[in-house]
Amino acid sequence: MTVEHVTTPLLRVENLGLRHVSGSATTPILSDVSFELGRGEILGIIGESGAGKSTVGNAILGLLSPEFQQTSGTIEFDGKAIDGMTADERETLRGRRISAIFQDHTASLDPLMSVGAQVEETCLTLDSSLSRREARARAIDLLARVGIPEPEQRYRNYPHQFSGGQRQRVVIAIALAGSPDIIIADEPTSALDATVQKQVLELLKILVDETGVSIILVTHDMGVISEITNRVLVMRKGQVVEADRTTAILDQPRHDYTKKLLAAVPRLRIPTGTA
Ligand SMILES: Nc1ncnc2c1ncn2[C@@H]1O[C@H](COP(=O)(O)OP(=O)(O)OP(=O)(O)O)[C@@H](O)[C@H]1O
Ligand SMILES: [Mg+2]
Repeated sequence: MTVEHVTTPLLRVENLGLRHVSGSATTPILSDVSFELGRGEILGIIGESGAGKSTVGNAILGLLSPEFQQTSGTIEFDGKAIDGMTADERETLRGRRISAIFQDHTASLDPLMSVGAQVEETCLTLDSSLSRREARARAIDLLARVGIPEPEQRYRNYPHQFSGGQRQRVVIAIALAGSPDIIIADEPTSALDATVQKQVLELLKILVDETGVSIILVTHDMGVISEITNRVLVMRKGQVVEADRTTAILDQPRHDYTKKLLAAVPRLRIPTGTA
């Protein structure tokens, strides 16, 4: 379902330009990147390695290191420019309004801390008014919501006692802890096998329907794009080369580069009809 009645977009990126400066070397990274994200929308960003997909996500999250300098444009979230905000202001947004899921759940989870405690800690960090007991209840609720069976029991388990797919579900639970408006999901299923990948994508779709969260899904995989996104940006060398509804991109890609990406996934070239 595509959200098309939105008046003010939740997120508006306009003419974003970024460069990387290291000593005397200056490398352009993003040039003239523009797009909007509506509430409850899943926007895919696809493109080859080095295209700038993660940089776009990190710029929105305020997670770029100081060597990245903004050369043009704005990032507006909820009607306010956030690109000029201080690090503290960005940190306040992070987790609460805009959160993230990264590919590598081993980096996102502490192996020495029980899974439940990690979700609980995040709940407490994001909402200091919660009591321990409330944070615990909320953590159990989040684990249930992302499809962890018997969350009260699994709460005490450590990450290694979970499967890869379950660990990524826990990472999603942590991303949901602050009830964000946007989740930036950077290659969230790339480390998972095909069946588990499908289940995790299905979960993301359900969460969008249930909570109205918007998702920016960064991937190099057209299969993932076709599975759950409403709209797609195709990026190449730091620029958006094509942007459209997913169905339009799949049916009639205009840019040669997009055609090439599609051709790499032959099954997608067959008209899918009505699923
Ligand atoms: N820390 C860094 N220092 C220098 N250049 C960087 C740094 N991080 C990223 N870049 C450059 O920025 C460009 C965009 O990188 P980015 O990580 O956004 O690409 P990507 O599309 O996410 O690629 P991938 O699919 O491999 O994750 C690349 O050319 C990369 O070399
Ligand atoms: Mg990347």
